[in-house]
Amino acid sequence: MRTTQPRHGLAPLLVALAAAGCGNEPAATVDTTTSGLSLPTDVARVLQTRCVTCHSATTMYGAPMALTTYAATQAMAASTPTRPVWQLMGERVHDPVRPMPATRLPDDELAIIDRWVAAGAPGCTGSSCGTVTTDPTATSPASRLPCAPGSRAVFVSHAAGSTNRFRVPGASGNVNKCFAFRSSFRAGQQATAFAARVDQSRVLHHLILFATDAQPGAGEVFDCDGNMPRDARFIAGWAPGNEGSVLPQDVGLELPDSTGWFILQVHYWNTTPDVADDGSGMEMCITDTPRLHAASVHTLGSLNLAIPPRAQGVEVVGGCTPENTEPVHVLGSTAHMHRLGVAMRTEVFRGGNTARMEPLMDVPSYSFDSQVSHPSEMVLMPGDTLRTTCRYNNTTNQTVYFGERTEDEMCFNFVLAWPAGSLSNAGGRAARRCIGRAP
Ligand code: HEC
Repeated sequence: MRTTQPRHGLAPLLVALAAAGCGNEPAATVDTTTSGLSLPTDVARVLQTRCVTCHSATTMYGAPMALTTYAATQAMAASTPTRPVWQLMGERVHDPVRPMPATRLPDDELAIIDRWVAAGAPGCTGSSCGTVTTDPTATSPASRLPCAPGSRAVFVSHAAGSTNRFRVPGASGNVNKCFAFRSSFRAGQQATAFAARVDQSRVLHHLILFATDAQPGAGEVFDCDGNMPRDARFIAGWAPGNEGSVLPQDVGLELPDSTGWFILQVHYWNTTPDVADDGSGMEMCITDTPRLHAASVHTLGSLNLAIPPRAQGVEVVGGCTPENTEPVHVLGSTAHMHRLGVAMRTEVFRGGNTARMEPLMDVPSYSFDSQVSHPSEMVLMPGDTLRTTCRYNNTTNQTVYFGERTEDEMCFNFVLAWPAGSLSNAGGRAARRCIGRAP
């Protein structure tokens, strides 16, 4: 019997922020506008803590406008020139699919924005009004990974060891590029921590590192939409605000050896006319001495999708009865669907019992643009069954089936857990898969 219990799942990496040297713009104090009005103090406080990571004076991560001044909130919106920004602010903080920020505002802060928007977004005069500053340290992504003794940092990217950069065209908006490269790891090497190395933060929206056994072709750069191999497994991802993860001390993540491939999917969002040459990637701490417990990414969900035209709230259910004979220690879960996906959850039934336990993962409002790993500390027991339910709103006039094209759909929960391969059903062990009929 295992005695080691993880005391925590994936520990967030809270270091390296202050050390990162990007975004050294002067701290801009704002709120002096031609009209002489400033932001009300409570509104300024919400914008300062929740929005200016991206909506800074020099905008970051593809944000289309700054939210550092009262005037900026009164200007017409980039996407909808007939409407002022403050109106869209009031909508986007409640948006069920693409909320701002992606993590959603806490209720008390939502109420502050709601009250202000309902009043017509009034300005404030006098010395008691709030100010918003662009703090360069708050906008600097983690760029250096401290590795535990015995492991060393390796840059996993198509741009590693080369000067090749991907040129993001000016004003290109939404660009989703995939970079394929062969794994250079040896069997037995493991990752113990990972964090993104963000090169051109101005245009980077998010990135995901996948592993695949398909042979995409060296040095290949392709549009991800429609071209991702079906077996692609989520390894690690980054979105603004994510500072990386450290695995528990006795756990290492298995990696594809040199017969396998990585695909780095990078979502760019360039709203400015300037080109950007980007070479971002994932920094990993690698150990040559395997740790006591090997973890891997397991694929749960369903391949059996047929979502009728215009149907709303269609649920697809995939069952999984893993063949593990030992407890399974879950570290995290990542929901993966395409554009029609609106929610996903994975429930656990102990010993096949119909009494549901706490869910393994619950994503009540899913967005393709904010695929993040949800940490977990759940321990699954032999005999547990898992049920993954994906919900879709089909906005098209076609029946949508499983597939890798953007117009197709997927229903996967990528579960990081140890022992490696434990969440697999008959025939799925090599591929770390547990996909079956609804229980
Ligand atoms: C992690 C980065 C990030 C954070 C934090 C963030 N935004 Fe955004 N915001 C973006 C990006 C990128 C876009 C453009 C893509 C889109 O519309 O989803 C955007 C778009 C918007 C838009 C739409 C503008 C238009 O012209 O359509 C509004 C309004 C907005 N954000 C408001 C906010 C508010 C209010 C906050 C804080 C409460 C916030 N955002 C926090 C990145 C962010």
